[in-house]
Amino acid sequence: MSEFHYANGQLCAERVALNKVAERFATPAYVYSRAAIESQWHAYDDALAERQHLICYAVKANSNLAVLSLLAELGSGFDIVSVGELERVLKAGGDPSKIVFSGVGKRTDEIKRALDVKIKCFNVESLSELSRLDQIAAEKNLIAKVSLRINPDVDAETHPYISTGLKETKFGIAYDRALESYIQARDMTNIDVVGIDCHIGSQITTIAPYIDALGKLLDMVSELRANNIELQHIDVGGGLGIRYQDESPPAPQELIKAVCDTIADTSYEILLEPGRSIVGNAAVLLTRVEYIKENSGRNFAIVDAAMNDMLRPALYDAWLSILTVNEQNSAAVAAYDIVGPVCESGDFIGLNRELSLQEGDLLAIQSAGAYGFTMSSNYNTRPRAVEVMIDGSEMIEVRRRETVAELMEGESTL
Ligand code: LLP
Repeated sequence: MSEFHYANGQLCAERVALNKVAERFATPAYVYSRAAIESQWHAYDDALAERQHLICYAVKANSNLAVLSLLAELGSGFDIVSVGELERVLKAGGDPSKIVFSGVGKRTDEIKRALDVKIKCFNVESLSELSRLDQIAAEKNLIAKVSLRINPDVDAETHPYISTGLKETKFGIAYDRALESYIQARDMTNIDVVGIDCHIGSQITTIAPYIDALGKLLDMVSELRANNIELQHIDVGGGLGIRYQDESPPAPQELIKAVCDTIADTSYEILLEPGRSIVGNAAVLLTRVEYIKENSGRNFAIVDAAMNDMLRPALYDAWLSILTVNEQNSAAVAAYDIVGPVCESGDFIGLNRELSLQEGDLLAIQSAGAYGFTMSSNYNTRPRAVEVMIDGSEMIEVRRRETVAELMEGESTL
C-alpha cells in the first residue's frame, strides 16, 4: 500500500489524515512519509547486498536535516555539490568518508573544507579542477582521492534542462580526453586516483542509456588498466525516474540488476547517486484553495502554494498529480487551472484538471519530495513552506515556516 492513500474519505500520509496536518501547521506545507523514504533507500541498498557498494543519496533532491539524518542512520552515503550541502550532511550525522563531491564549479574554500573532513572522493569534472585540487591538497599536505566524471555522450532521453550526458553540455571530461586526463592525474603528487563516474541526466525512464554509458566507462577502465591505472570504484550516477503521471520507469532493483550484470568484475565497488527516486514520491505539497474564479470561460482555482514553493511546472512544464484531500466533494466537477498567487502567468501547478472544488478545500500535489522544497524561493517575499515528517501516526515539524521578519534579516535601509 502506498504511504499516501485514502482512508475514511480522507487522504492520509501513513496513519495521519492530511487535514489534521493542515489544521496544525497551516498551508502550504510539505508533508513527507518516513516509511516511503526508508523503503526506497532499502530498494537500492538491498539489491546491491551481494556486491561491495555505496548508495550516495543526491542531497540536492531534498536536503532537509531530517531526511539526511534518516538516511545517515540507515548507513547511506551522500553526493554533494556545495559546501552548504556538506555542512548539512555533517550536521545530520552523515559519515564524511561516505561523501562524494560532484559539480563543475567547486570553489577553493569548498575544496579545502572537503579535504579537511576527509571525504571519500572528489568527482572531478575538468583538468583545471584537477590541478587546483592537487595544489590545494599539496598546501595542506593531504592526498585528495579522485574520480573523473566522464562525459559518455549518451542521450538520456529526458527534458533538455536535466540531460547531462551529451558531449555538448558543460558536464564531465570528454570521453576522448579521459585517458590523458587520468595519466595526468596519476602523475600528480597529491592526487590518488580511485574511481570513474558519470551522470547522464535525471528522470530517466529506461535502462538502455545507463548501460550505454556504463559500457563506455568499462571500455575506459580497460584502457586505464592497460596503462597501469587501477581503480577501486565505478560510480554510475543518479537519474532514475519516478512515476509522475503515466511513466513506467524501471524499479531500482531492475536498474541494479542490469548494472551488476554489466560490471561483471566484482572487485569494483559500485556507487550510485540517486536523488529523485528515493524521495520524489515520498511527499505531497499540501495547499488550500483560496479563491475560485472564471475568466473568459476558463476556471481558475487559486491556491496558497505558488511557483516559489514548487517551481517544476513553471520551469520544466512538469506534470504533477493533484488530489483533493476530501475523497468526495459535493461541488460539480469542472476543468480547473490550479494556479498560485504570484504575479506571473507561468505561476501554475497544474492546468486543465478535472476536479470537484470549493473555496477552502485542501489539495495535495503529489510527487513533491524531490526538487520541491530545495528549489523553492522567497519570490514575491513569500516565506518558504513548513516541512512536516509523518512517522506512523506522528507528525514532526522538521522545518518551521519562515516568517516575513526572517526574510528581511540581513538587509538594511540606506
Ligand atoms: N548526481 C549528479 C552528479 C547530479 O547532477 C544529479 C542531479 C544526481 C546525481 C541526482 O539525480 P536524480 O537521481 O535526482 O535524478 N531540478 C531537476 C532535476 C535536476 C537534477 C540535477 N542533477 C528537476 O526538478 O527535475
